[in-house]
Amino acid sequence: MRSIPHQRLLAGLLLLFACERVRMLPGVQPQSAVRKQAEPILMGPWLLEPGERQMTVAWVSAAPSVGRVWFGTRETDRFATEENATLEHRVLVAGLEPGTQYRYRIEAAVESGGVFSTAPPPDSPFSVLIYGDNRTNSGDHALLARAAAGEHAQVALHTGDMVANAGDNDLWRVWFAEERDLLSRTPLIPTVGNHEITDQGVGYSKYFLRRDLPAYHSVDYGPLHIAVLDSFEMAAGATPHSAGFSDAQKAWFEEDLRSVREGRHVWVLVHQGPYAHPLHLRGAGHGGSEVIRQALIAGSKIHPIEAVIAGHEHFYERGEIDGLRYFVFGGGGAPLEDPDPSFPGVQVAQKALSYAVVQVCGCHVTGKVKDIAGQVLDSFRLSDCDVPCGAVARGASRDGGAK
Ligand SMILES: [Fe+2]
Repeated sequence: MRSIPHQRLLAGLLLLFACERVRMLPGVQPQSAVRKQAEPILMGPWLLEPGERQMTVAWVSAAPSVGRVWFGTRETDRFATEENATLEHRVLVAGLEPGTQYRYRIEAAVESGGVFSTAPPPDSPFSVLIYGDNRTNSGDHALLARAAAGEHAQVALHTGDMVANAGDNDLWRVWFAEERDLLSRTPLIPTVGNHEITDQGVGYSKYFLRRDLPAYHSVDYGPLHIAVLDSFEMAAGATPHSAGFSDAQKAWFEEDLRSVREGRHVWVLVHQGPYAHPLHLRGAGHGGSEVIRQALIAGSKIHPIEAVIAGHEHFYERGEIDGLRYFVFGGGGAPLEDPDPSFPGVQVAQKALSYAVVQVCGCHVTGKVKDIAGQVLDSFRLSDCDVPCGAVARGASRDGGAK
């Protein structure tokens, strides 16, 4: 039997010790102790599932790799990592402080990253960006995304229809490139549009959905409770040209509304909303959705709904019908349509590339809709009370004073 030389034995023990340290102390290793993941980034990064204490960083790499994200408030001196090599990365960054800005960077051939803010406590002010219907009209979409990024909102809601054909990877690459400045620092809460199911929802699922869960879900962010509905639910027989909404989703929605905590603003995010009034109807499957309308009317009897946020038609519209306050935010780049501002219940309608910025602070909610030149097209108030912004809102009541 051959003996092991002392030098080789010592080197082996040192290697074992180093490996054990990495295994025992995940997330706090000096950067030099961790092997670099050097695959180029094809798409992203973008941010998902924002919480008071967590954020998910997503991107697509050129070849499979184990994703790793470094983060911190001043120095990026902590890391979170995936378990297995993949192309579509989701790295959960947890253990964060509420309402705090963090830097982050992804290990890659060319390092990429940005900053993000965790969700604030319920009484702290923040702003919400709302937009949608980009649908591969790249020049206009790029202009819209650039103007929206300049608002520096803490979180973004997308009303659906990102690319014309979800099965075309080149369209997704252009979409993510044009959204990069915005989505690398603003977490996105999207809903499914009919164009997202042109590939049976494969692309949307890879890039945005929580693993193995349906597209409908709810998110608490500050004092907001956002119910995200799927108006093109494939399990209910939806196609890119006809909506679908299952009894199971309706039952989930009603149960979700029963669970809303006191003092929350309930918003519903959905692609095809209850009402929309194009001057020239493009065909079946456009305008308002009867099944969504019925679901919302039933839901509003369980818990008041402050606003319904939809897209699908390529213009801006705000109105109130049957006690439902609704918006159509479809001016995100797709070829614009003419709305019909004369329809009863329509309060404002504009044919414009546009987005909204909504300011939220406790019980106070006000918003502005802007075009890509920064011109204000509409102003509205969704909620108000006597408690000043920043004070603890005890007994605050909802005031439906849209103006
Ligand atoms: Fe649509």
